[in-house]
Amino acid sequence: MKSIFIGENVQSGIWDDAKVKCFYVNQSQSSKAKSDGAFMPLEDCKLIELPKINDPQGNLTFVENNSQIPFEIQRVYYVYDVPGGAERGGHAHKGLHQFIVAMSGSFDITLDDGQNKRKFHLARSYYGLYVCPMIWREIDNFSSGSVLMCLASNKYSEEDYYRKYEDFMRARWAAA
Ligand code: TYD
Repeated sequence: MKSIFIGENVQSGIWDDAKVKCFYVNQSQSSKAKSDGAFMPLEDCKLIELPKINDPQGNLTFVENNSQIPFEIQRVYYVYDVPGGAERGGHAHKGLHQFIVAMSGSFDITLDDGQNKRKFHLARSYYGLYVCPMIWREIDNFSSGSVLMCLASNKYSEEDYYRKYEDFMRARWAAA
């Protein structure tokens, strides 16, 4: 499994192939073109560098619909007060697009398209991970006080989840 680190733990060699600037996402139509349930490869999931307005009084980063990320934002949620050793995720979404940011602290996200796995370490609030539909994710290694923020392309629907890995795999191979 390949590991991708960002923020303070950049590892040269694997950095370039994972990192995309926001203009790259604007040009990419592949993620927008695919719809609910369609198989989307792990390669569509990317680290995206967001705009950063540097200021001695405090930096500022912003995200706009269909600009820095390839979907319209319908929902924002955040995970916080995560106890040491906790593991989150453990599911895939049928049609939901997500963009996950470590607003504070750090954590690891392992993505799995049923064939390949990639591990990302999120540690900065000016980067995020775009997660396309039909990707199993596990999130762990939360640092103390970390906050995970997720921008999502649709409102919460339990119907959109695969909670069992075998259900995800069955659907993933049926769609391939
Ligand atoms: P879940 O998506 O499984 O969290 P995670 O992937 O971070 O482990 O959601 C946990 C619980 O919260 C589950 O009962 C559904 C509920 N939930 C909502 O009600 N609304 C939401 O927007 C989200 C993301 C979850």
